[in-house]
Amino acid sequence: MMLIVLGYLSGSWLAALSVCRLAGVADPRYHGSCNPGFSNVLRLYGPRLAAATLLLDALKAVPVVLAAKLLALPIWLQGAVGLAVLLGHSYPLWHGFRGGKAVASAFGVLLVLVPSVALLSAVCWALLAWRLRTAAAASLVSALIAPLVCFWLAPAYVGVVGGLSVLVLARHWLNIRRLRRGEEPNL
Ligand code: G3P
Repeated sequence: MMLIVLGYLSGSWLAALSVCRLAGVADPRYHGSCNPGFSNVLRLYGPRLAAATLLLDALKAVPVVLAAKLLALPIWLQGAVGLAVLLGHSYPLWHGFRGGKAVASAFGVLLVLVPSVALLSAVCWALLAWRLRTAAAASLVSALIAPLVCFWLAPAYVGVVGGLSVLVLARHWLNIRRLRRGEEPNL
């Protein structure tokens, strides 16, 4: 239970806000797509700040390292801690419960639990983002593919990865509407 709370609190810290504050640029929640995540930071401020945001948001999975590697808790509990990190990022305590889409945090959590799935999803994301020039489309397809790849590579984690994917997909509902209207901004 302690680790689930820790996961939520860790997720509640939005790296994009700290990175942008430190760099002396405007809060990404009020510009571009208004999403406090690496894609919006990339569009607004370029690759350096976006990479820092991605790295720090992924590092929020540290409580999952404790659950999976240090304590070797059952898989469903590892997943619960991971989901707590994503919920923290999506509904952060410190920011009026208005957070991001949890893509980078999900990558961090996957990297701890099922590294092969994390890396394949990341490659898929990068290729799609490059081809389609749309971060959300890349995130949606990667989130759909992750549980399928997991079924093949690490079947014991399919339920956990499926749960993380559902949350990431749900957090993209505005992007889905914009994609359907052809109004999604390019990367
Ligand atoms: O990484 C989040 C991405 O999937 C969508 O972000 O800023 O394009 O709405 P954004």
